[in-house]
Parts: sequence; C-alpha cells; structure tokens
Amino acid sequence: MTAKILILDFGSQYTQLIARRVRELNVYCEIHPYNHYPAIDAAVKGIILSGSPCSVRDEGAPDVNLADFGNLPVLGICYGAQLMAQKTGGNVLPSTIREYGRANLSFIHEHDPLFRYLSPQSQVWMSHGDTISAISDDFEITASTATVKVAAYRHKSAPVYGIQFHPEVTHSLEGRQLLRNFVVDICGCAQDWTSAAFIETTVAELREKLGNDKVVLGLSGGVDSSVAAQLLHRAIGANLHCIFVDNGLLRKGEFEQVLHSYQDMGLNVRGVDAKARFYDALKGLTDPEQKRKAIGRVFIEVFDHEAHAISDVKWLGQGTIYPDVIESVSVKGPSVTIKSHHNVGGLPETMKLKVVEPLRLLFKDEVRAVGRTLGMPDNLLGRHPFPGPGLAIRILGEVTPEKVAVLQEVDHIFINGLREHELYDQVWQAGAVLLPVQSVGVMGDERTYENVVALRAVTSVDGMTADWSRLPYEFLAEISNQIINRVKGVNRVVYDISSKPPATIEWE
Ligand code: XMP
Repeated sequence: MTAKILILDFGSQYTQLIARRVRELNVYCEIHPYNHYPAIDAAVKGIILSGSPCSVRDEGAPDVNLADFGNLPVLGICYGAQLMAQKTGGNVLPSTIREYGRANLSFIHEHDPLFRYLSPQSQVWMSHGDTISAISDDFEITASTATVKVAAYRHKSAPVYGIQFHPEVTHSLEGRQLLRNFVVDICGCAQDWTSAAFIETTVAELREKLGNDKVVLGLSGGVDSSVAAQLLHRAIGANLHCIFVDNGLLRKGEFEQVLHSYQDMGLNVRGVDAKARFYDALKGLTDPEQKRKAIGRVFIEVFDHEAHAISDVKWLGQGTIYPDVIESVSVKGPSVTIKSHHNVGGLPETMKLKVVEPLRLLFKDEVRAVGRTLGMPDNLLGRHPFPGPGLAIRILGEVTPEKVAVLQEVDHIFINGLREHELYDQVWQAGAVLLPVQSVGVMGDERTYENVVALRAVTSVDGMTADWSRLPYEFLAEISNQIINRVKGVNRVVYDISSKPPATIEWE
C-alpha cells in the first residue's frame, strides 16, 4: 500500500501546486474535494487543508469535520488554517489591509518541527483577506510577521499545524523545506515514491486487473498515449493492441517516423491510412467546430472498425492524466469540465469497453519522467503538444490535400529550424497557420499573388495561458527566407505576437 498525503481542496488556485511540491519530495499525495473524499485508511499519513477563495466568515463556507482525521497530522494552509482556528475556539476577522505578496517572518518558534532548518527572516508568500485574530488556549503561535501576528500556529500536544502563508508558491523561499518537515518528519512518509516505484506498482496492478484480457489503445504520437501504451505493454505485452491512425492532418513525415519509433519500442501497433476518409469528410467545411466534429466522427468510425477486427477486446486504454481527473471532480462541481474539444471523448460509450487509464494519477512532467525511466526516446517525450484535429485547424477555411501539403512544408521548415537553433525546448508549442489571404509580392521581375502564412510559437506551463515566444529576429528572418524561397505558393510570412488570453494558441 503506497503511503500518501491527502490534500483536501477548498478551491484554491494553488491546490495543484501543493500536490506538485509534495510529489517533488517523492511523497505520493492525492487531491480530493473537501466535501467528497475517500475513507481515511491506513495508507493516509497526513492531511493538508488547502486555501480557498471563500471566507470562513461567509454563510455556508466550506467546512470539514476535524474529528474525521483522528490523530493524523494536519497542516492547514491559509483558509485551511483559518478554518481550523475558528472551529477550535479561535477567531477570524477581515484583515485591515489585504495581505498580498512577499513578507518576512519576524518570529519563529525555536523548537517547532514544522519550522526546522528555516532561516530567521524566511521570506513567505501571503495572499489572504482574512486574518486569524485569536487562537484557543490549546494552541500556540509558532511564527509571526511584522503585520500578521498569527502567521503560524500549532496545537500544544497534537500534530496539528496552521500556516497563513503559502509554502507551495516559489516566492516562499523555504516552502519546500517546510513541506518536507511536514510530510517526512511529522507524517513519517519515506521519500520513496519515484518513477521506478510507480512503474513497478502500476505494472503489477495492471497485470492483476487485466489478466489475460485484450486492451485496445489509440496512439496519437503525443507523450501521454505513448507512455500509457508503454506501461500497458510492460504489463500485458502482445495483448495490448495499439492503433495509430493517419488522418492526413499530421506534420510532414510524422506518421511514418512515429510509427517506426513505436515499432522500435516493441509495441504491437497497427498503422491505418485513413487520409482519404478524413479529406472527404472535410470537403466544403469552413467552420472550425464543424471541422472538429467531422474529424472526431471519422476518427471514431475508423477506430471502431479497427478495434472490431481484434477479437474479444475488453478494455479501452486511455492516456488521461491527473489534471483532467482533478478538473472533472473539482469543488466547483462536476459541471465545470475541460473544453470538450481537448478530449478524445465519445469512444467508451460507443464501444462498450471498460476503460483503463494507467496515467490518471500523474502530472505531465511525471508522465515524462516515467517515460524516461521506461527508456523511451527523448524526441518522443520532449515533443510539443499537437492538437487532435491537427493541421485542419491551422488551415483557415476549407481543408484540401493541396493546402495540407503546403502547410506541412512551411511547418517543417519552422520546426526543423527551431531544433537546429536549439530553440525547440524553450518553446512550449509552435506551428504555422495557412491564412485564407493572398497578398502581392515580387519575385525576380514577376509580380506574385500568393498565400500568407503566420508562424506561432508560445511559452506556457499548461496551455491555459500563454505568451508569444520572443524568438530572435535573426532566426525569424532566416526562417521567413527559407519558407518564401522553398515553398511554392507562399510569398509572405508574419509572426503572431498575441498572448492567451485574449487570443488562443490555435487560430481556430
Ligand atoms: P487553444 O487554442 O484553446 O489551445 O488556446 C490550447 C491547447 O489545446 C490544443 N488544442 C486542441 N487539442 N483538440 C486537441 O486535442 C482540439 O480540438 C484542440 N484545439 C486546441 C492546442 O494545440 C493547445 O495545445
């Protein structure tokens, strides 16, 4: 049984960060809504209560039953700390000034295990509108700042701690040490949750769960489905049947290259050339959502057909990862789901298969680490994200095979250039967009009237927000020259300098 820390989410924007930081310490943790968490069993070594956009003074404010935690160590962060203080006989009032930003601890309790190894003036990050004005006699103050008297407190005899600041934010310079003190020293977690350990337990669980059953999995060329496939392959070998569909909307040469690397990894994979079906379905469509729907529909048809060719399949493998899982059960309620176009969606219902998702507990960087430990090639793991509908949503207007061919050349020059200039890894995602616009140019003595392409490169952490990459002018100049000289039909290149929001990453 993997030891774990339970993080109860009260809706703070930082809850996922808490989980990231705990896992960076090689301690496994799970996030659950404060009002809907699994029974606390022996695997749970400690509880963290997150922050919240709510105030404990609001009517109907999120609440928990502290008795539920028994004698387990508890760390309340911000709202979590205020809630515990209030429920145990203390008091919470609106701050006279809103506490936001960096602060330094001016007092730290000498022998408090939570603050062990922290420096006297340690910088912390505050973000709260309420303040703890009093704690009951069972508690004592363990840290203060110049303006916040109860910056931290603890129970005098039980392992119960509250902190007003956010140790998970990097501006809390010694936050990592504080979280280590809690999960390792106070909760007693061994720091043994590593990629290798994850692989070992997951493979064993998959073997147990799947037995001799067959699993079908759609590969996309992306990191998640590839790592999911590798894990399943380790567990059940040839009983994993992978399907990789060429929708004619991939990057230049991508289908062949990726198919080969899958085969090199030993996967039982079938490549399916369905280009013509996708182009047919896209004929005459100009609306982005209609294009997406058509592509999704054909994908399901093709996948379904291929899956039926495998006898007795019981399971559908999917590369779902943790942020999707948390998002769909967040405290905001099940109505808040991720944008539908970012999911494969629809497959399980039509196919009546049970779903197996070996990565559903991992963050993206953990998926990459698992892939690396599994010995997967860097060029696969370090890949930029690429949308499911592929180049179809980067060709504004109707998609034709000819336009795909033009855009593939442009994209190839851009992406290759990024790799050659060692800019690829500095960029979160990059690509080219074929505009339905023609512009006048001059080549030799000839007037030209040809297509415009836009280049897009962004930096981002998760794709939810993004900034345009400040690529060097010299690089952009070289790429623009190469594109105009080499790609027939393009005589103008522009660079997209919009951030998300308000623009999105893709143009459609
Ligand atoms: P936007 O354009 O919404 O993109 O800023 C955010 C991220 O999502 C990708 N994206 C898609 N992925 N199907 C996908 O699988 C889609 O229809 C789709 N649309 C956008 C986009 O490439 C970026 O990584």
